[in-house]
Amino acid sequence: MNNTKPPEFKTQFAEDVFKGLTSYPKKISSKYFYDDKGDELFQQIMDLPEYYLTGKEYHILMRNREEIGDAFASFEGFDLIELGAGDGKKTKVLLRHFEQKNYDYKYLPVDISKNVLEQLSGSLQQEFPSVDVEPQQGTYAEVLSRLSDYRERKKVILFLGSNIGNLSQEEAVNFLKKISSAMHEKDLFFMGVDQKKEPQVILDAYDDSAGVTEAFNKNLLVRMNRELRANFDPETFLHWPIYNPETGVAKSYLVSTKEQTIQIDALDMEVHFQKWETIHTEVSQKYDDTSIAWLAKEAGLEIAGSWADKENCFKNYLFKRITT
Ligand code: AVI
Repeated sequence: MNNTKPPEFKTQFAEDVFKGLTSYPKKISSKYFYDDKGDELFQQIMDLPEYYLTGKEYHILMRNREEIGDAFASFEGFDLIELGAGDGKKTKVLLRHFEQKNYDYKYLPVDISKNVLEQLSGSLQQEFPSVDVEPQQGTYAEVLSRLSDYRERKKVILFLGSNIGNLSQEEAVNFLKKISSAMHEKDLFFMGVDQKKEPQVILDAYDDSAGVTEAFNKNLLVRMNRELRANFDPETFLHWPIYNPETGVAKSYLVSTKEQTIQIDALDMEVHFQKWETIHTEVSQKYDDTSIAWLAKEAGLEIAGSWADKENCFKNYLFKRITT
């Protein structure tokens, strides 16, 4: 670093990069993967043969839509709130079924990105012209506290794609506590969770042969170059995923293949890397029934149902609030 006085940061990204690259070991949150290029790469990841998560969950929803729909439906109708809706491909399986059943419901997709919500609303308008869609822009926490006042009829909150896995244990408990406190007695929470399984299958999902996940991870370096005027050479870093079958933690790193000093002009700093030094970039926690039941209980929730594929690769859980 060139100066000693605490810097002022223009963006949260700038502040988090500064903090992450001045800590030891170095780290940057995976939430920064998702700029426009990162969104595009993640779309490609979901279609990769090694990345089984999306396909498995799609088939679980497809095969069990009748039963899941029965659990969601209610006499007075319901509000379906989806956290991190993305392109809605999996949710549309359920929406199509609800349409056939003539269910009375409103769909409220939640996303921080206005762009994502506009695209999703456009495609829903075309495919489901009669569905009442009310997009909610904001962070999950903002939208959840806003929607906790929705108590006229049943709320069903969706959180698909094993996004819970990208949170640390502490963050996951806090996140589920927020969900639980936004829920009333009759409300439900439906979450997709990747399960512990053969370690090699998990490792391959984060180390695909086409190199898309590598590009996704290295996109962080590209993003710092563009947004913070840094001079990372992505070629000098390895994409390094690991999986620990004991804890169920999959992690990704960027590993510097040489000793080097990086300039980050917008932060007025220099970052030194030893040869083989790492930046920890992502956690993708894998769960099982025991750890999910523990997590739920910590947050005041209990499992009310679950649906899995034949090999128990992926599981969708339904939760209700524990009433005392
Ligand atoms: C979004 N999230 C659940 C993905 C995962 O599996 O952790 C992100 C991802 N990272 C690498 N590949 C996909």
